[in-house]
Amino acid sequence: MSRSPLIVRTVPALRRALDSLRAKKATTALVPTMGALHDGHVSLVRLAKRRAAKLIVSIFVNPTQFAPSEDFSSYPRTWKADVAKLAAENVDLIWNPDVKTMYPDGFATRILTEGPATVGLEDRFRPHFFGGVTTVVGKLFTQCRPDFAIFGEKDFQQLRVVTRMGRDLDLGVKVIGSPTVRERDGLAMSSRNVYLSAEERRVAPALYRAMKETAKRLRAGDDIKAAMAGGAELITDAGFILDYFEARHADTLAPIGSTKEGPVRILVAAKLGKTRLIDNFGV
Ligand code: PAF
Repeated sequence: MSRSPLIVRTVPALRRALDSLRAKKATTALVPTMGALHDGHVSLVRLAKRRAAKLIVSIFVNPTQFAPSEDFSSYPRTWKADVAKLAAENVDLIWNPDVKTMYPDGFATRILTEGPATVGLEDRFRPHFFGGVTTVVGKLFTQCRPDFAIFGEKDFQQLRVVTRMGRDLDLGVKVIGSPTVRERDGLAMSSRNVYLSAEERRVAPALYRAMKETAKRLRAGDDIKAAMAGGAELITDAGFILDYFEARHADTLAPIGSTKEGPVRILVAAKLGKTRLIDNFGV
């Protein structure tokens, strides 16, 4: 049986709700989201449930992580369906502040991170992005003070950045990554997949196939440059415009010259028509 989550929209109401959630010293887990929830988000909630007694999901489309040219105003917003999904998962609390609550007039603070935030992947193509993400996630962590926070591995660089930030600022939150959930044809679930036309949706799994094929070549000992060039070609031949297709150290995201340098992650970002997709794959 599902039960309706408590929905709170102001910081004082959040504090009261958290005090009562923690009354019996219950552990809490936070799943930060921008809504438009899909099965990938549901898997984050289910992982949270295995870690903590009480579940908090934040739904906030964060303007500071979008450049003026990006899709903040058209980002999918599916509030009723989101609440129904979270109710079905027995989420205890939905934190749904508005922009003024998160960024009141005069707001003048920004969390800027280096390390994994400055390795020349997403940061190269979306230079505004991590400043917005770390500022909002830093606020969500201090507002909700969860024991655990769950982030999808689909945004692999983001996962590394928020993990680093949580540690560096002693925020007392254990950040946990959750594996990417894919459609049957391999396309990683993403709220932005709704932007794809029927033809683009047919083509989109080429990203996954190219990563899988490249990982196979790397595991077999192929030269890294040749394998990456082969994968990039598969992606552009399918009709994508590539931002990057790179093999990086899975922990530091530093460039690598050989698979012997550590655990390797292939990371990709590419545009199909107007839609930019990102994905990654462990070697
Ligand atoms: O991954 C997302 O949905 C967002 O970047 C996050 C972590 C909720 C911050 O706005």
